[in-house]
Amino acid sequence: MMGKKVVVTGVPGVGKTTVINGAMDRLAAEGVIYESVNFGTFMFDVACNENLVSDRDEMRKLGKDDQKRLQQAAASGIAAMSADANIIIDTHSSISTPAGFLAGLPEWVLRELMPDVVVLVETDPDQILMRRLGDASRARDMEGSRAIAGHQEFNRAIAAAYAMYTGCTVRIVENADFLLERAIDDLADVLR
Ligand code: AP5
Repeated sequence: MMGKKVVVTGVPGVGKTTVINGAMDRLAAEGVIYESVNFGTFMFDVACNENLVSDRDEMRKLGKDDQKRLQQAAASGIAAMSADANIIIDTHSSISTPAGFLAGLPEWVLRELMPDVVVLVETDPDQILMRRLGDASRARDMEGSRAIAGHQEFNRAIAAAYAMYTGCTVRIVENADFLLERAIDDLADVLR
Protein backbone atom coordinates (compact mmCIF):
# COMPACT_ATOMS: atom_id res chain seq x y z
CA MET A 1 0.00 0.00 0.00
CA MET A 2 1.23 3.52 -0.81
CA GLY A 3 2.34 5.50 2.22
CA LYS A 4 1.09 8.98 3.01
CA LYS A 5 3.30 11.98 2.11
CA VAL A 6 2.70 14.98 4.33
CA VAL A 7 4.66 18.20 3.79
CA VAL A 8 4.88 20.32 6.94
CA THR A 9 5.89 23.95 6.52
CA GLY A 10 6.06 27.13 8.56
CA VAL A 11 8.21 30.23 8.85
CA PRO A 12 11.48 29.72 10.78
CA GLY A 13 10.88 29.64 14.52
CA VAL A 14 7.15 28.85 14.34
CA GLY A 15 7.89 25.48 15.94
CA LYS A 16 7.11 23.08 13.10
CA THR A 17 9.81 20.60 14.17
CA THR A 18 8.53 20.67 17.77
CA VAL A 19 4.97 19.95 16.58
CA ILE A 20 6.15 17.21 14.18
CA ASN A 21 8.10 15.42 16.94
CA GLY A 22 5.11 15.58 19.30
CA ALA A 23 2.69 14.24 16.68
CA MET A 24 5.06 11.41 15.69
CA ASP A 25 5.41 10.31 19.33
CA ARG A 26 1.64 10.37 19.79
CA LEU A 27 1.02 8.30 16.67
CA ALA A 28 3.81 5.82 17.43
CA ALA A 29 1.98 5.01 20.68
CA GLU A 30 -1.04 4.10 18.50
CA GLY A 31 1.10 1.99 16.15
CA VAL A 32 1.01 4.52 13.29
CA ILE A 33 4.61 4.99 12.16
CA TYR A 34 5.93 7.99 10.23
CA GLU A 35 9.45 8.80 9.14
CA SER A 36 10.35 12.48 9.28
CA VAL A 37 12.82 13.89 6.77
CA ASN A 38 14.19 17.39 6.93
CA PHE A 39 14.43 18.87 3.44
CA GLY A 40 16.98 21.44 4.64
CA THR A 41 19.27 18.68 5.93
CA PHE A 42 19.26 16.97 2.51
CA MET A 43 20.19 20.33 0.95
CA PHE A 44 22.79 21.05 3.61
CA ASP A 45 24.61 17.74 3.08
CA VAL A 46 25.07 18.54 -0.61
CA ALA A 47 25.99 22.18 0.10
CA CYS A 48 28.64 21.09 2.64
CA ASN A 49 30.16 18.55 0.25
CA GLU A 50 30.53 21.35 -2.30
CA ASN A 51 31.99 23.73 0.34
CA LEU A 52 29.22 26.24 -0.36
CA VAL A 53 28.24 26.84 3.29
CA SER A 54 29.33 25.91 6.79
CA ASP A 55 26.00 26.62 8.51
CA ARG A 56 22.44 25.71 7.45
CA ASP A 57 21.26 29.31 7.95
CA GLU A 58 23.68 30.42 5.21
CA MET A 59 21.83 28.42 2.54
CA ARG A 60 19.04 30.96 2.07
CA LYS A 61 21.67 33.61 1.23
CA LEU A 62 23.11 31.55 -1.65
CA GLY A 63 22.37 32.56 -5.23
CA LYS A 64 19.00 31.47 -6.61
CA ASP A 65 20.53 28.96 -9.02
CA ASP A 66 22.52 27.24 -6.26
CA GLN A 67 19.44 27.04 -4.05
CA LYS A 68 17.41 25.56 -6.91
CA ARG A 69 20.06 22.95 -7.60
CA LEU A 70 20.16 21.97 -3.92
CA GLN A 71 16.35 21.76 -3.88
CA GLN A 72 16.45 19.41 -6.85
CA ALA A 73 19.03 17.17 -5.12
CA ALA A 74 16.92 17.05 -1.94
CA ALA A 75 13.71 16.28 -3.84
CA SER A 76 15.37 13.41 -5.74
CA GLY A 77 16.84 12.00 -2.51
CA ILE A 78 13.46 12.06 -0.76
CA ALA A 79 11.62 10.63 -3.78
CA ALA A 80 14.01 7.66 -3.72
CA MET A 81 12.71 6.67 -0.26
CA SER A 82 10.26 3.79 0.01
CA ALA A 83 6.90 4.48 -1.61
CA ASP A 84 5.23 2.35 1.08
CA ALA A 85 6.46 4.45 4.00
CA ASN A 86 4.47 7.23 5.65
CA ILE A 87 6.71 10.27 5.34
CA ILE A 88 6.65 13.74 6.86
CA ILE A 89 8.72 16.26 4.91
CA ASP A 90 9.80 19.10 7.21
CA THR A 91 10.38 22.09 4.94
CA HIS A 92 9.23 25.58 3.89
CA SER A 93 6.43 26.81 1.61
CA SER A 94 8.69 29.72 0.74
CA ILE A 95 12.13 30.91 1.77
CA SER A 96 12.88 34.55 2.50
CA THR A 97 16.06 35.27 0.51
CA PRO A 98 17.86 38.59 -0.10
CA ALA A 99 16.34 38.55 -3.62
CA GLY A 100 12.76 38.00 -2.38
CA PHE A 101 10.61 34.95 -1.61
CA LEU A 102 11.76 31.72 -3.26
CA ALA A 103 9.20 28.92 -3.70
CA GLY A 104 10.05 26.02 -1.36
CA LEU A 105 8.14 23.56 -3.55
CA PRO A 106 8.54 24.67 -7.16
CA GLU A 107 7.05 22.50 -9.88
CA TRP A 108 10.12 20.25 -10.26
CA VAL A 109 10.14 19.55 -6.51
CA LEU A 110 6.38 18.90 -6.34
CA ARG A 111 6.59 16.49 -9.26
CA GLU A 112 9.04 14.36 -7.23
CA LEU A 113 7.19 14.59 -3.91
CA MET A 114 3.48 14.65 -4.91
CA PRO A 115 2.26 15.22 -1.33
CA ASP A 116 -1.19 14.21 -0.07
CA VAL A 117 -1.36 17.20 2.26
CA VAL A 118 0.57 20.46 2.75
CA VAL A 119 0.39 21.67 6.36
CA LEU A 120 1.08 25.30 7.27
CA VAL A 121 2.10 25.69 10.92
CA GLU A 122 1.31 29.26 11.94
CA THR A 123 0.99 31.48 14.97
CA ASP A 124 0.89 35.11 15.96
CA PRO A 125 3.94 36.93 14.44
CA ASP A 126 4.87 38.44 17.84
CA GLN A 127 5.16 34.94 19.30
CA ILE A 128 7.40 33.87 16.41
CA LEU A 129 9.59 36.92 16.95
CA MET A 130 9.99 36.06 20.65
CA ARG A 131 10.81 32.41 19.83
CA ARG A 132 13.49 33.51 17.35
CA LEU A 133 15.00 35.89 19.90
CA GLY A 134 15.08 33.07 22.45
CA ASP A 135 16.92 30.64 20.15
CA ALA A 136 20.66 31.34 20.44
CA SER A 137 21.53 28.11 18.62
CA ARG A 138 20.55 29.47 15.20
CA ALA A 139 21.35 32.50 13.03
CA ARG A 140 17.69 33.51 12.69
CA ASP A 141 16.69 36.37 10.41
CA MET A 142 16.02 39.42 12.53
CA GLU A 143 12.84 40.90 11.13
CA GLY A 144 9.82 42.57 12.68
CA SER A 145 6.30 41.22 13.24
CA ARG A 146 4.99 42.85 10.07
CA ALA A 147 7.57 41.11 7.91
CA ILE A 148 6.80 37.78 9.60
CA ALA A 149 3.06 38.35 9.02
CA GLY A 150 3.77 39.11 5.36
CA HIS A 151 5.78 35.91 5.03
CA GLN A 152 2.94 33.85 6.55
CA GLU A 153 0.47 35.47 4.11
CA PHE A 154 2.73 34.66 1.17
CA ASN A 155 2.96 31.05 2.39
CA ARG A 156 -0.84 30.69 2.28
CA ALA A 157 -0.95 32.10 -1.23
CA ILE A 158 1.76 29.82 -2.56
CA ALA A 159 0.27 26.77 -0.80
CA ALA A 160 -2.89 27.37 -2.85
CA ALA A 161 -0.75 27.05 -5.97
CA TYR A 162 0.69 23.76 -4.67
CA ALA A 163 -2.89 22.46 -4.18
CA MET A 164 -3.79 23.48 -7.73
CA TYR A 165 -0.77 21.67 -9.15
CA THR A 166 -0.98 18.40 -7.19
CA GLY A 167 -4.57 18.10 -5.94
CA CYS A 168 -3.24 17.97 -2.36
CA THR A 169 -5.20 19.50 0.49
CA VAL A 170 -3.87 22.41 2.55
CA ARG A 171 -4.30 22.36 6.32
CA ILE A 172 -3.48 25.17 8.74
CA VAL A 173 -2.26 24.14 12.21
CA GLU A 174 -2.08 26.89 14.82
CA ASN A 175 0.88 26.52 17.23
CA ALA A 176 0.14 29.22 19.80
CA ASP A 177 2.07 29.84 23.02
CA PHE A 178 0.89 27.51 25.81
CA LEU A 179 -1.18 25.51 23.30
CA LEU A 180 1.46 23.16 21.90
CA GLU A 181 -0.64 20.10 22.81
CA ARG A 182 -3.51 21.40 20.70
CA ALA A 183 -1.18 21.87 17.72
CA ILE A 184 0.15 18.32 18.20
CA ASP A 185 -3.45 16.98 18.29
CA ASP A 186 -4.28 18.84 15.06
CA LEU A 187 -1.22 17.55 13.21
CA ALA A 188 -1.80 13.99 14.51
CA ASP A 189 -5.35 14.18 13.05
CA VAL A 190 -3.91 15.06 9.64
CA LEU A 191 -1.42 12.17 9.82
CA ARG A 192 -3.85 9.41 10.93
P1 AP5 B 1 15.05 24.17 8.53
O1 AP5 B 1 16.00 23.26 9.19
O2 AP5 B 1 13.68 23.64 8.23
O3 AP5 B 1 15.07 25.54 9.35
P2 AP5 B 1 14.03 26.26 10.22
O4 AP5 B 1 12.78 26.69 9.61
O5 AP5 B 1 14.80 27.34 10.83
O6 AP5 B 1 13.58 25.09 11.10
P3 AP5 B 1 13.51 24.89 12.56
O7 AP5 B 1 13.26 23.45 12.64
O8 AP5 B 1 14.65 25.41 13.36
O9 AP5 B 1 12.30 25.83 12.87
P4 AP5 B 1 11.02 25.46 13.55
O10 AP5 B 1 10.07 26.57 13.33
O11 AP5 B 1 10.57 24.14 13.12
O12 AP5 B 1 11.53 25.53 15.03
P5 AP5 B 1 11.48 24.66 16.32
O13 AP5 B 1 10.54 23.52 16.33
O14 AP5 B 1 12.93 24.40 16.65
O15 AP5 B 1 15.63 24.69 7.15
C1 AP5 B 1 16.95 25.18 7.11
C2 AP5 B 1 17.21 25.84 5.78
O16 AP5 B 1 17.04 24.89 4.73
C3 AP5 B 1 16.26 26.97 5.41
O17 AP5 B 1 16.61 28.19 6.00
C4 AP5 B 1 16.44 26.99 3.87
O18 AP5 B 1 17.60 27.69 3.53
C5 AP5 B 1 16.61 25.53 3.54
N1 AP5 B 1 15.39 24.90 3.04
C6 AP5 B 1 14.57 24.05 3.70
N2 AP5 B 1 13.57 23.64 2.90
C7 AP5 B 1 13.76 24.27 1.70
C8 AP5 B 1 13.08 24.24 0.44
N3 AP5 B 1 11.99 23.51 0.23
N4 AP5 B 1 13.57 25.00 -0.57
C9 AP5 B 1 14.66 25.77 -0.40
N5 AP5 B 1 15.36 25.83 0.76
C10 AP5 B 1 14.91 25.07 1.79
O19 AP5 B 1 10.86 25.72 17.31
C11 AP5 B 1 11.42 26.99 17.47
C12 AP5 B 1 11.29 27.47 18.92
O20 AP5 B 1 9.93 27.64 19.29
C13 AP5 B 1 11.87 26.45 19.92
O21 AP5 B 1 12.60 27.18 20.87
C14 AP5 B 1 10.63 25.81 20.54
O22 AP5 B 1 10.85 25.37 21.84
C15 AP5 B 1 9.63 26.97 20.49
N6 AP5 B 1 8.23 26.54 20.43
C16 AP5 B 1 7.69 25.65 19.56
N7 AP5 B 1 6.37 25.52 19.78
C17 AP5 B 1 6.05 26.37 20.81
C18 AP5 B 1 4.82 26.73 21.48
N8 AP5 B 1 3.63 26.20 21.17
N9 AP5 B 1 4.89 27.63 22.48
C19 AP5 B 1 6.07 28.21 22.82
N10 AP5 B 1 7.26 27.93 22.24
C20 AP5 B 1 7.24 27.02 21.23
